[in-house]
Amino acid sequence: MSSQEDESAGGGSEPAEPSSSPSTEIGTTSGDIITVTIGATVPTGFEHTAAEEIKEKIGVDARISKDRGRVFFPITTDKLFQVHLLRSVDNLFVVVEEYHHYQFKESKEETLMELQQLASTLPWTNALEVWKQNGTLKKKKGHRRGGNTAKSKPNCEGVGGSMASTEQQELPQENSAPEGWAGDTQAMETSTQDSDETGHGSKLIKFRVTCNRAGDKHSFSSNEAARDFGGAVQEFFQWKADMTKFDIEVLLNIHNEEVVIGIALTEESLHRRNISHFGPTTLRSTLCYGMLRLCKPQASDIILDPMCGTGAIPLEGAIEFNHSFYVAGDNNDMAVNRTVNNICHIQKRRADKGSMSGLPIDTVQWDLCSLPIRTSSVDIIITDMPFGKRMGSRKKNWDLYPSCLREMARVCRPGSGKAVLLTQDKKCFSKAISRMGGLWRKQHTVWVNVGGLHAGVYLLKRTGAVFGQTPEDVYESRGAVHMQGEEKDDKELS
Ligand SMILES: C[S@@+](CC[C@H](N)C(=O)[O-])C[C@H]1O[C@@H](n2cnc3c(N)ncnc32)[C@H](O)[C@@H]1O
Repeated sequence: MSSQEDESAGGGSEPAEPSSSPSTEIGTTSGDIITVTIGATVPTGFEHTAAEEIKEKIGVDARISKDRGRVFFPITTDKLFQVHLLRSVDNLFVVVEEYHHYQFKESKEETLMELQQLASTLPWTNALEVWKQNGTLKKKKGHRRGGNTAKSKPNCEGVGGSMASTEQQELPQENSAPEGWAGDTQAMETSTQDSDETGHGSKLIKFRVTCNRAGDKHSFSSNEAARDFGGAVQEFFQWKADMTKFDIEVLLNIHNEEVVIGIALTEESLHRRNISHFGPTTLRSTLCYGMLRLCKPQASDIILDPMCGTGAIPLEGAIEFNHSFYVAGDNNDMAVNRTVNNICHIQKRRADKGSMSGLPIDTVQWDLCSLPIRTSSVDIIITDMPFGKRMGSRKKNWDLYPSCLREMARVCRPGSGKAVLLTQDKKCFSKAISRMGGLWRKQHTVWVNVGGLHAGVYLLKRTGAVFGQTPEDVYESRGAVHMQGEEKDDKELS
């Protein structure tokens, strides 16, 4: 795999030479085991967690991209099914080609022309073979609502190649689509039920190009890049562009001067796999996995999520770290119902597959500030606290956070207990924790992105102090804790 510092990847005003990734070095014929590079999007902040999981479960080193929230790793295709079982990855793709230092031309016209020319020179064969093998492994989306994975991010637009008709250029004669991949091939093992028939009675492949672009030095928009690159892909393969019912999604990821072309291997993000009953602030299972790994659950640990919402964290724990026991609680009856339904859904899915093992999890309705749990009896507390935006309010957090830290300290085992707490209300959390030094020690913070909000995952260690014998145990009223200035900020925020 090329290193990110590989200067030979590009130079002068010409486009960078393709980097020699495994996907381009090892040839193949259909059915062979080949080596390719897989790219995965992961929750930002938990890239290293993903790399650790990949090393543990697939045995290879992952490279963390400059573009936060992505990892790349080599696999042989016999390991493809294991890639789909990773718990830390959201979306998967196979790399067609990557350029670490792509030298974009100055003018928009020249750059777009070059992107068009690129399409016919890329080493598509191995990536398409992986896409084909992946057809039986990937989880099919129940129904596509307005497309596969298009998001309304400013820099993320999905564009079918058909829009490129006005700027298409002639392809060099010597370039032709890899054998068996022209649009009228019969070799496709895709969801072709709704694909068009070609004149020969075979299936016409539908595709779209999605461009994700980040960086402010580009003379073109992601829309224009997807349109022109997509047009050239269409011309090269003779595929049909379709924004919503596509068989193949080609990804054009541009991050400053890094360009990665890939083919998507997931129809919907893997983070949705546990939850059937969503709530207003359901956490991605991949983020839950990262939080769980932070606290290293051990066999027979009692693990509490006292504000479980839909149960995303304890469910991920009960599935992946199933030698511990989880208690999921919430004071909202709708949240408790959703958690119960989510647990039942997974139990049923397992039973349908012939598995008799239940999940080590129970659900309770409670008020976190007064838990029906014995003092010093819990090993780990892991929860996603109300940010005070969509859930609760900033104002309420000034009461809630100190109360819940105190009650968590009561039930948590002194000396060995841990807490992993997620919040975006960093100011309130920092204030509350700074007054709890006798009960909690802040060990580590992971900064994450939750739905576009910059949030902290705080790893706390319970001190050895016996509950009831520190000044922190005494409840301080909101008025006593705050200075006047903070009160003003709080009002502005709420
Ligand atoms: C951010 S949400 C948790 C979302 C959850 N992680 C999920 O994936 O669905 C916070 C939860 O805290 C609950 N909550 C707020 N105050 C509480 C209290 N005093 N006791 C118990 N739960 C509380 C809310 O009802 C809400 O479900």
